[in-house]
Amino acid sequence: MQEPRHAEIIEGLRCTPACISPKYFYDERGSRLFEAITRLPEYYPTRTEHAILQASGADIARAIGQGCTLIEPGAGSCAKAAVLCGLIAPRCFVGVDISADYLAGAVQRLGARFPGLDARALGGDITRGIDLPADLPAAQRLVFYPGSSIGNFDPPSALALLRQMRALAGDDGGLLIGIDLPKEVAVLEAAYDDAQGVTAQFNRNVLAHVNRLIGCDFDGSDWQHRAFFNTAESRIEMHLEASVPVQVRWPGGERAFAAGERIHTENSYKYALDHFYELLAQAGFARTRAWTDPLQWFALVHAQA
Ligand code: AVI
Repeated sequence: MQEPRHAEIIEGLRCTPACISPKYFYDERGSRLFEAITRLPEYYPTRTEHAILQASGADIARAIGQGCTLIEPGAGSCAKAAVLCGLIAPRCFVGVDISADYLAGAVQRLGARFPGLDARALGGDITRGIDLPADLPAAQRLVFYPGSSIGNFDPPSALALLRQMRALAGDDGGLLIGIDLPKEVAVLEAAYDDAQGVTAQFNRNVLAHVNRLIGCDFDGSDWQHRAFFNTAESRIEMHLEASVPVQVRWPGGERAFAAGERIHTENSYKYALDHFYELLAQAGFARTRAWTDPLQWFALVHAQA
């Protein structure tokens, strides 16, 4: 029997327009390219979020309080958790990530850096629901979801994810989440189409990854990176556009693409704060507060259950 992800990828390739889920960006090379993106001069979200944490850290810490149980879905290297731990001194940290091995090392280093912190690693994907350890303190939980990753889900899926986070937080817990705000289109488009072409490599790399996953024969050099802001949907869209007619084959199937035809690879929604507060309210969060940078490009939002 085919793996579920085989079926999902092939279904996306057969659609018109074709699509590949952005989760397939993150093989080893894709994760390294994403790290490089976060350091690009055009890609403001990572450094802006970091600057907000630095500038408003004391205030954020007062709003959250000390000694909570910190839960971070998609914790990865735990670099952002380390900054937050320095501010709010949690009693317990649970990092959750699909790459369980990579996470385990990062959580161990976090524990060594903050003596007394009960640091735990949990392999899993929050979009599929996660089971927290049974002995985890139930009170005073904070779910941390930085980086504006919520923007990579369409609004109904984002709402479903926020509801999952509300369930993880419990009735006296909260959420600290990064969101990317709407801004000048030229700034947005440059962030997703940088001068060095790193985002273009990141986008094309998804083809090499699906080649390995389903045994198809994409040639990345046939495809051009396209990134633009869709104002009506308030989202950056990334696509790969065939520069020549392409025939892609995989075991048991194939698909022809005309020159100029596109594969939709990612959406990155930019939420106005009021709109995002409505989503939070629908997910069962209240008492919301936000910190932004001087240009109001990015926000860290704290919401209580
Ligand atoms: C992971 N995520 C928040 C990034 C974003 O900005 O939507 C992914 C990304 N895609 C292209 N550049 C960065």
